[in-house]
Amino acid sequence: MSERVSLLRHLTQAAQDGRLDPALALVVQQIGAASREIAAALARAALADVLGAVDSANASGETQKKLDVLANDAFLHALPWTGAVAGIASEELDGTYRVPGARGGYLVLVDPLDGSSNIDVNVSVGSIFSILRAPDGAVGLANDDFLQPGSRQVLAGFTAYGPATVMVLSFGHGVQGFTLDPASGEFLLTQPDMRIPERTSEYAINASNQRWWQPPVQRYVAECMAGKDGPRERDFNMRWVGSMVADVYRLLTRGGIFMYPRDTKDPAKPGKLRLMYEANPIGYVVEQAGGLASTGYERILDIRPEKVHQRVAVILGSREEVERVVAYHREG
Ligand code: AHG
Ligand code: MN
Ligand code: MN
Repeated sequence: MSERVSLLRHLTQAAQDGRLDPALALVVQQIGAASREIAAALARAALADVLGAVDSANASGETQKKLDVLANDAFLHALPWTGAVAGIASEELDGTYRVPGARGGYLVLVDPLDGSSNIDVNVSVGSIFSILRAPDGAVGLANDDFLQPGSRQVLAGFTAYGPATVMVLSFGHGVQGFTLDPASGEFLLTQPDMRIPERTSEYAINASNQRWWQPPVQRYVAECMAGKDGPRERDFNMRWVGSMVADVYRLLTRGGIFMYPRDTKDPAKPGKLRLMYEANPIGYVVEQAGGLASTGYERILDIRPEKVHQRVAVILGSREEVERVVAYHREG
């Protein structure tokens, strides 16, 4: 077996070639350190008695798991050390966090633990990260400084904690996947240049919400379910892990479409997933892998955010399938 490229070597090479700010290489290294800590905490969760919920809610009013809090702390401890991070926003923080005394040029947004309802049942979960440039100087950093469209991300990715811990990231030059070697503690390049197959026959959606879906999604899913006998003239398979990161890792590996669309369940919510630390970073990675990410009506990365914790409809994955769902939305 040839010697594998480590995450550090990959980032250093990119920095030397002028494709990556060396300061960002350090930030990614620290995201790797936080991910390692979270992977270890997940593996020992029952033994260390950190399964279950804490007695508090997060900024979106959702119950926090002990591991949500632990994972959030891992990022808050790891990122300031880089000297490159001016501020942090997180699913688990009410406001944004200004790194004390920081002169760093970047803002990091995280979903520290994605799919946390899956932790107690020992199903894959993940961490999602998005990096934006801080406004000049970053002195007096305000919440509004985070409210940049996803197209302005300079780096984004996620770590999936499954049978293996895998970090997938992009800084605008394709998508690379790194597997954590538990023996050395290093992330090693195992999936260079990940590409989402354009044409696939697998879809992911929480079908228990079906009665609230809008007509374009009803039509798309009905046609998939009709299989060979329907207008698609082929059979489709369905998967729903309940951790976006795990569902998206599958898309990146063997293609498919993932949908958490707008529905009428709660008219006040335009979707379930959060724009800034779920849809934007995942959308960036998906586009970099040749796929598409849309709300059904517009490109996710073009949305001008109004709130750090705002929600959005998400339809992403293989190009042909997303284009079809978007066309159904246009047709009404
Ligand atoms: P989080 O655990 O960070 O709140 O995110 C969970 C998200 C996402 O990972 C997943 O795709 C979706 O919620 C699952 O929602 P349902 O439980 O409604 O299927
Ligand atoms: Mn999440
Ligand atoms: Mn989360």
